[in-house]
Amino acid sequence: MRETQAQTVQVSPLRDDLAFLDIVTEWDIASGYHQWKAGIVVPDTFRPTVDLPRVMAVANQKGGVGKTLTTFELGMAFAARGLRVRLIDADPQVASLTSWLRILYPADLPTDQRRSLTDVYFDRCTLKEATYQTIYENLFLVPSFPDLATVETEHPTGYETCLRFHLWEEEDDVDVTIIDSGPSLGSLTVSALVAARDVLVPVQAASGLDIEGAAALHQTLGTITTRMNRGLRVAAVFLTDFTRSKLARTIGSEMAKAFPDALVVPVRTCVEIGNAQLSKQALRAHTPDATTTLDYDRGAGVLLRGVSR
Ligand SMILES: Nc1ncnc2c1ncn2[C@@H]1O[C@H](COP(=O)(O)OP(=O)(O)OP(=O)(O)O)[C@@H](O)[C@H]1O
Ligand SMILES: [Mg+2]
Repeated sequence: MRETQAQTVQVSPLRDDLAFLDIVTEWDIASGYHQWKAGIVVPDTFRPTVDLPRVMAVANQKGGVGKTLTTFELGMAFAARGLRVRLIDADPQVASLTSWLRILYPADLPTDQRRSLTDVYFDRCTLKEATYQTIYENLFLVPSFPDLATVETEHPTGYETCLRFHLWEEEDDVDVTIIDSGPSLGSLTVSALVAARDVLVPVQAASGLDIEGAAALHQTLGTITTRMNRGLRVAAVFLTDFTRSKLARTIGSEMAKAFPDALVVPVRTCVEIGNAQLSKQALRAHTPDATTTLDYDRGAGVLLRGVSR
């Protein structure tokens, strides 16, 4: 057994069987607050993802809304279903997914030959060569470092389609790819949206400003869908840091209106996220019983209904 295989940690199992968030067809805003219960909105027009491989981009130009958490926990939830999952860190910030999710680099790979997403953009390696086993079984990461920002300033031409080219033209055995974007609608995010089939939009359930942000995202997505990627659709909105409140109910209902064909998934608050980050563990591994983990499990189950290995 190779060293990397020996060290991987099994992803803790699914919690789909537990009773938690209901599945509803529309967000209830008419009933009195005390009777109201949050649920996952599954509109009639929503179609689960059944064909693999699948490429999903997590995007919202607002910072700190839960993009990286959504990428990581959803990836863990898919891995728990036995799927082979690749996460791509497309955010040049230092404190991003690459700092949180530990890679098991092959023991015989010299440090100066480690690849990153920047190398893929500048055609110095294939996407497969920049994809590394992480400490979790079935979970792989394409890391990035601050030099990724040079893609936006120094890339000659065609970088908007670069990721799409590598994702769809290269042979590999990955089932689901999830791309984590930074807090902007700049070229790196655009190139993730050009590569993806599904967009996942995290918004903070307690921020009234996120409604305006969603309008800007809507416009960008409209342009990309018309000009560059007709197959793109918003598959889900994740209401992160969710606690039951009148504001959360209003935001959930506005999001369901803004993205009428998408799932709306409340992701309940967990105070352990900071500790999980500090110990460089997924929340699912650090606090397996966190409601946040359960909510991502349920969201993953509806997104990819019936798909598992
Ligand atoms: N369900 C939740 N419960 C508690 N806190 C949450 C939850 N979701 C997100 N947060 C908080 O929001 C913080 C930011 O999350 P995250 O880093 O995923 O956002 P981001 O959108 O990726 O940020 P950036 O735009 O800077 O990349 C987390 O560290 C956590 O403190
Ligand atoms: Mg982030």
